[in-house]
Amino acid sequence: MSKSTDELFKNVISHAKEYGFVFQSSEIYDGLSAVYDYGQFGSELKNNIKTYWWKAMVQMHENIVGIDSAIFMHPKIWKASGHVDGFSDPMIDNKDSKKRYRADQLLEDKIARYDKDGKTDKAEELQIEMDTALKNEDLARLKELILEHEIADPVSGTRNWTDVRQFNLMFSTQMGAVADDADVVYLRPETAQGIFVNYLNVQKSGRMKIPFGIAQIGKAFRNEVIARQFIIRMREFEQMEMQYFVRPGTQKEWFNKWKETRLKWHLALGTDAAKYRYHEHTKLAHYADAAYDIEFDFPFGFKEVEGIHSRTDFDLSQHQKFSGKKMQYFDPEIDQATEKPYGNYIPYVIETSIGLDRMFLLTMINAFEEEDLSTEEKQDSRTVLKLHPCLAPVKAAIFPLIKKDGLPEKAREIMDKLKLDFNLQYEEKDAIGKRYRRQDAIGTPFCITVDHQTLEDDTVTIRYRDTMQQERVNAADLEKIIGDQVSW
Ligand code: GAP
Repeated sequence: MSKSTDELFKNVISHAKEYGFVFQSSEIYDGLSAVYDYGQFGSELKNNIKTYWWKAMVQMHENIVGIDSAIFMHPKIWKASGHVDGFSDPMIDNKDSKKRYRADQLLEDKIARYDKDGKTDKAEELQIEMDTALKNEDLARLKELILEHEIADPVSGTRNWTDVRQFNLMFSTQMGAVADDADVVYLRPETAQGIFVNYLNVQKSGRMKIPFGIAQIGKAFRNEVIARQFIIRMREFEQMEMQYFVRPGTQKEWFNKWKETRLKWHLALGTDAAKYRYHEHTKLAHYADAAYDIEFDFPFGFKEVEGIHSRTDFDLSQHQKFSGKKMQYFDPEIDQATEKPYGNYIPYVIETSIGLDRMFLLTMINAFEEEDLSTEEKQDSRTVLKLHPCLAPVKAAIFPLIKKDGLPEKAREIMDKLKLDFNLQYEEKDAIGKRYRRQDAIGTPFCITVDHQTLEDDTVTIRYRDTMQQERVNAADLEKIIGDQVSW
């Protein structure tokens, strides 16, 4: 990370805290690692991102419906899905510092260092060796690579490593009041399984015909070995996932469609297309026959924000096997080749899975600008979040110019008319310039000032966040002016 991008990232993090977007969880107890709380403006922004996703995925598609499944699920589900046996990271401890690391992350860091030092041959060689060891689940080889490349613990500086072990990322707890009766249950590591196990309930109760989709937004939990980069890798996070059930043989076509549709969703927010790229997975998960990530150019490099996976019939077949219940769908459509109905089959699934917290961070980074407004007469600057108006936590702020002469009452009267439709803020403290800056910092697209003229002719000044220009408009037109910008 160069100094300027490093600084940008640090500034975004401190801005997020200072202005009530994101706080370290349990901060007064020195925090809980990789767990974060969203503050008053952060939760509004997060809700607006969820709404944008839900509208685009559910409301705009007649054949996609949304559900809200429980976080706790039958423990067999995680056996069937492969998470009990396979959802783990290779981990290694340093005996001196007692710190735990992901073995592959230590190697990745070394590869990045080789690259930075111009040792590209060494970087490529280590990359291949590491990929092979990971593919073969050869934990001994991973340790050998750490030793061969003289990787030291960043804390103790020593190379006193334990063996590499697999570490399951699922959190578990017990259900039931009596310890003897207690059953291990897991906090779900993805929302997708709640969709798979409900797919026939939804299909039958909603009379859904293939192809159709089920969407869900919800919390997921992973006991990540290392947590880094703020809300990029958290132990409690939120996912927005959609499973699209298709006829076997058509998965490639749907996979390509969803890959494109999802990137368009990102770009519709006005983000520079050069900040996004696709990353094709060459090492596919056991359940997938194709997988692409949508990556965003964060200040610390391109990172996955969303995955599009062609999951075949793996999950539904596994649930059929483990539950003993039929997972087949009857397709009455006529197959042109055989002139008979397609009949019974287990659908194939295309999944789109986006991390809400990563999308939140991406949005903050994209919007964050430190503008130099200095003139010959005076030095000036502002920090502004140029959020898409639909995503802005507060849509407009209403200011009485001064705190007397009936201006606060008039401002409140205007606010009362608008607050049914928009999230607004009323502010009467400090000079107008200071109030503008505070609203810029949280990304409010409009500031409306009520002055003495308002009492005479019912006009107000409206100031636009991005251009900082002001104009006089009729108070009666505010609903339309704001609505045109912030409505979906
Ligand atoms: N159902 C598929 C699935 O869960 P994934 O690639 O493991 O796939 C999907 O996760 C998305 O969830 C990722 O693209 C990322 O945005 C987000 N995500 C995964 N682990 C995360 C973590 N520890 N903290 C924050 N977001 C995470």
